[in-house]
Amino acid sequence: MTFMTTDRPAPVVKSGHVQLSIILAESEKTTLQNQIFDQIRSMILNGQLKGDDPMPTTRELSSQLGVSRNTAVLAYERLIAEGYIRTKPYVGTFVSPDLPDTAFLSADHRAPLAEQAGAADEPPTPCGALRTHRLADPGRRRLAADFWVGRPDARSFPLKAWSHHIKNRLKAVGFNLTSYSDPAGLLELRRAIAKHLAPARGVVADPDQIVIVGGCQDGFNLVGRLLVRPGCAAVVESPCYQGAAFVLESLGATLHPVPVDQDGLDVARLPKTKGAVAYVTPSHQYPIGVTMSLQRRLELLAWATEYDAYIMEDDYDSDFRFVGSPLTALKGLDRNERVIYLGTFSKCMGPGLRLGYVVLPRRLAEAGRRMKMLMNNGQSWLEHASRLEASGRISGRRRGGEARPRRRRRRLFAGDRLGAAIRRH
Ligand SMILES: Cc1ncc(COP(=O)(O)O)c(C=O)c1O
Repeated sequence: MTFMTTDRPAPVVKSGHVQLSIILAESEKTTLQNQIFDQIRSMILNGQLKGDDPMPTTRELSSQLGVSRNTAVLAYERLIAEGYIRTKPYVGTFVSPDLPDTAFLSADHRAPLAEQAGAADEPPTPCGALRTHRLADPGRRRLAADFWVGRPDARSFPLKAWSHHIKNRLKAVGFNLTSYSDPAGLLELRRAIAKHLAPARGVVADPDQIVIVGGCQDGFNLVGRLLVRPGCAAVVESPCYQGAAFVLESLGATLHPVPVDQDGLDVARLPKTKGAVAYVTPSHQYPIGVTMSLQRRLELLAWATEYDAYIMEDDYDSDFRFVGSPLTALKGLDRNERVIYLGTFSKCMGPGLRLGYVVLPRRLAEAGRRMKMLMNNGQSWLEHASRLEASGRISGRRRGGEARPRRRRRRLFAGDRLGAAIRRH
């Protein structure tokens, strides 16, 4: 690897009180945008840049480093996607105030141990960085108005029905709590999910292709462990749901953020390398909210087929579509079995249940079942059985049943709820 310093070594980039000392080198292996990304990331992890510190604009950065604006924009997009910096509309770009502490402890694994803050108390993991997404903040419960997206309203949980289902199931528990069951999950629940997915999402799957997991997050781990090899490219949307990106990274993948516009993922910017894994939210992009156009979906599938890639489709909130008919999932268009579909009950019921499912291509189904066994021997029988009881009601086999609370929740979440809440407070 040869490094040649450029004509302008170590320019100091000023913005407000912040001065970024960035040294660019012409390298055969590392692009300029990666160098900018790496150096800013190191400054944040080393504590040189602190939460809420202002960053230079991409225009300032590009002009002072002598690189194209696009290079600076791409470096910033990646820093945003991975949670290091964030933009405040009309104000500027700032260092993210809520990076998880673990990132500070171990992400800069190239720095000597003694230089790492807190190294003596909490050494980095043997595999290096272990970045995690932000999940919960106990202080939030005290907020009068909570703008955290995608969390169901506690008042809408069907508590009575759920305790009824659990009691019912316990009456007929048999050996189920005293023995192991299929690591893929209760067959009847997998049948009910398959039956629901075909008309609702256009996903036709055999129950054997389904593995019940502890929410999407468990699904990301299952799929990641099946597909990711150290160094393989993991395409993530920019911006994206960090919970998925960090799992892929923790398994050794190299994150490859691809920008999102009003039609979803910009497929023209997908890597032209074999064997990548792509994580997408085509039905309702997280966090922007756009829907991937049909044209882009078809191009994404064609890319996966051409480059032997697999696509992880996170369909986290498909139950909530207030206008128009339900969209066909990407998996519903997947003729070459390149898509792994992930669903969760976190949005329609609650994330405290930790219940979701993965629909695997036929050729990965048995491997998925075995991987679940390696991970944790499957999920709790009681939760599966209770969810099954509830799903029997969803499909309308019992009068009214859960369809009624679900319609109520749709009404509760639809309309100008935000406007009403703002007026109230
Ligand atoms: C886009 C997206 N995917 C997945 C998840 C995680 O879901 P689960 O609770 O099923 O792990 C979330 C949680 O907020 C999310 O926003």
